[in-house]
Amino acid sequence: MNAVALDTKPVARVSDQPFFSVRDIHAYYGESYIVQGVTFDIRHGEILALLGRNGAGKTSTLRAIARLDDPELHRGEIWLDGQPIHSMKSFQAARAGIQLVPEDRRIIQGLMVEENLTLAQVAPGRGWEIDRIYQHFPRLAERRRQEGTTLSGGEQQMLAIARALARDLKLLLLDEPFEGLAPVIVHEIERILQEIKALGITSIIVEQNAVAALKLADRAVILDTGEVAFTGTAQEVLDNAQLRNEYLAI
Ligand SMILES: Nc1ncnc2c1ncn2[C@@H]1O[C@H](COP(=O)(O)OP(=O)(O)O)[C@@H](O)[C@H]1O
Ligand SMILES: [Mg+2]
Repeated sequence: MNAVALDTKPVARVSDQPFFSVRDIHAYYGESYIVQGVTFDIRHGEILALLGRNGAGKTSTLRAIARLDDPELHRGEIWLDGQPIHSMKSFQAARAGIQLVPEDRRIIQGLMVEENLTLAQVAPGRGWEIDRIYQHFPRLAERRRQEGTTLSGGEQQMLAIARALARDLKLLLLDEPFEGLAPVIVHEIERILQEIKALGITSIIVEQNAVAALKLADRAVILDTGEVAFTGTAQEVLDNAQLRNEYLAI
């Protein structure tokens, strides 16, 4: 008998496949060529720190991934769990599970904390229930009847993250979540991001506070003028003084 029926090749484990892939993306603001061929992969449940100096193209890369109109994606592919994000509009990318928490947090004026959360539940049964959110964000539970825009900066950041969890979330994009926050609040948000990670949610975190981001992250990508200057583990960046000095000024 020959061995036709017996294939002994090891089957690749699902977790080894990239869950999210950016393949050679190029994006423009009008004539300005900003994202210049960025490529990286993320495995399911990982946190990727996307780092680089001011103006390196981090926000632009996140916006291109979320398929916002600006910058305009001219070339390249973006795949999330088998879905071609590059051929979608922003609302379709959001429905596909990509949730961007922008730098300014975009808390809706005139709405209470709880209204911000219920409004985010556009796909009932998909995202987190309000009670589950309050278990992870006790500060938001205490302030459920307070207007969202009257929260402190840290609480607004928590609300912005909670809103992403209320939606159908597969990939969380965080743009400078620690910006302007006191160290004690940064620690609280770090704890929340660790909890989210423990639940298996995949994230990209952009941060000027590179050390805090690298401590949370599994892997890191460093951008320099719209191109990838480094890809590797977060620990490699923490251990490489030259790299940190050259691209991160830490
Ligand atoms: N709306 C815009 N129009 C034109 N250029 C922009 C716009 N937003 C950002 N840029 C330029 O794109 C480059 C990258 O910006 P950005 O992605 O915000 O960098 P980072 O988030 O890494 O600080 C910068 O040179 C910036 O001036
Ligand atoms: Mg930015």
